[in-house]
Amino acid sequence: MSANETPASHQPPAATRDSAFLRACRREPVPHTPVWFMRQAGRSLPEYRKVRQGIGMLDSCMRPDLVTEITLQPVRRHGVDAAIYFSDIVVPLKAIGVDLDIKPGVGPVVEQPVRSRADLARLRDLTPEDVPYVTEAIGQLTSELGPTPLIGFAGAPFTLASYLVEGGPSRTYENAKAMMYGDPGLWADLLDRLSAITAAFLKVQIEAGASAVQLFDSWAGALAPADYRRSVLPASAKVFEAVAGYGVPRIHFGVGTGELLGLMGEAGADVVGVDWRVPLDEAVRRVGPGKALQGNLDPTVLFAPREAVEAKTREVLDAAAGLEGHVFNLGHGVMPATDPDALTRLVEYVHTRTAR
Ligand code: CP3
Repeated sequence: MSANETPASHQPPAATRDSAFLRACRREPVPHTPVWFMRQAGRSLPEYRKVRQGIGMLDSCMRPDLVTEITLQPVRRHGVDAAIYFSDIVVPLKAIGVDLDIKPGVGPVVEQPVRSRADLARLRDLTPEDVPYVTEAIGQLTSELGPTPLIGFAGAPFTLASYLVEGGPSRTYENAKAMMYGDPGLWADLLDRLSAITAAFLKVQIEAGASAVQLFDSWAGALAPADYRRSVLPASAKVFEAVAGYGVPRIHFGVGTGELLGLMGEAGADVVGVDWRVPLDEAVRRVGPGKALQGNLDPTVLFAPREAVEAKTREVLDAAAGLEGHVFNLGHGVMPATDPDALTRLVEYVHTRTAR
């Protein structure tokens, strides 16, 4: 078997392979436009808040039964076309021993930020033995999901580096950018380290049964295109290349990335995620041919009355009419205060409106 052939054991069952979601990712004809939502599992769902009571976010990510239940909740409730594995982008960092926590209402906080070569030396490789709960949960999930595809995911090197170097969430990324501009050698080595960890984490998920993967470079929109191309794209490209041989669709997403869409496609994705700032008919010009697009309803639209949600949804679908492959999603994650019924109605609306 050549390096680029998909090992037979990683081919999803035929019904999954033929799902609307995977067909759209491959730019094949679909019975309806597939829909899933970033952060579809989470605080918008009362059943999520209930099972998470008294259990920390990172602890919940390490309990296969809980991961399975939480991942399935939005599939049951909304009838979305794909499940996304319930975890967090910092889970692989925690798994290799980085002292970090996810603080409610804040996000990931790193005890000792990575600012020097000695700090970088603490980031060791990730092996499947570091994350046995991922393999176990995905095994449970793929049998419970039936034909519904499971999306695995990881944080992209830049977005992970932003948390590691800043020590927590940031609006400006001043420490990360100071390293990028001031010590490009250390920066490149840090991103390279993170690309190896990220690739290993995605491989664990694919080998356990994930039938697509999404690389979240949520904060890449903070970068100018030249800096992205020089200092970030090579590391993300390495991640995509590392999982290319499995043949599972690779999705690449960031927020505020209008100016980077072409480069994010170039990094090696099969599907490019678009936030709400660039209409999909413009996004396809920026990304170029040969890639599907995912997006891009503004998540705040869901706070408006049903008629307004439907009108904005039609705008997205109209802009997507000429695409070769379209996966409907929000332009970023579901906001915690979103009415879950509005999400269920949105899935129904997209399915009905695009039924062919
Ligand atoms: O349903 C899904 O999409 C899967 C679950 C998922 C989570 N985090 C669960 C989570 C995914 C895909 C992520 C990825 C993630 N985590 C990203 C990239 C996606 C994006 O939103 O851009 C980022 C930047 C993070 C880092 C992170 N983790 C933040 C910013 C927060 C929010 C902090 C807060 O409390 O507002 C988290 C915590 C987190 N990750 C929660 C969930 C459901 C909330 C914690 C809770 O429910 O107690």
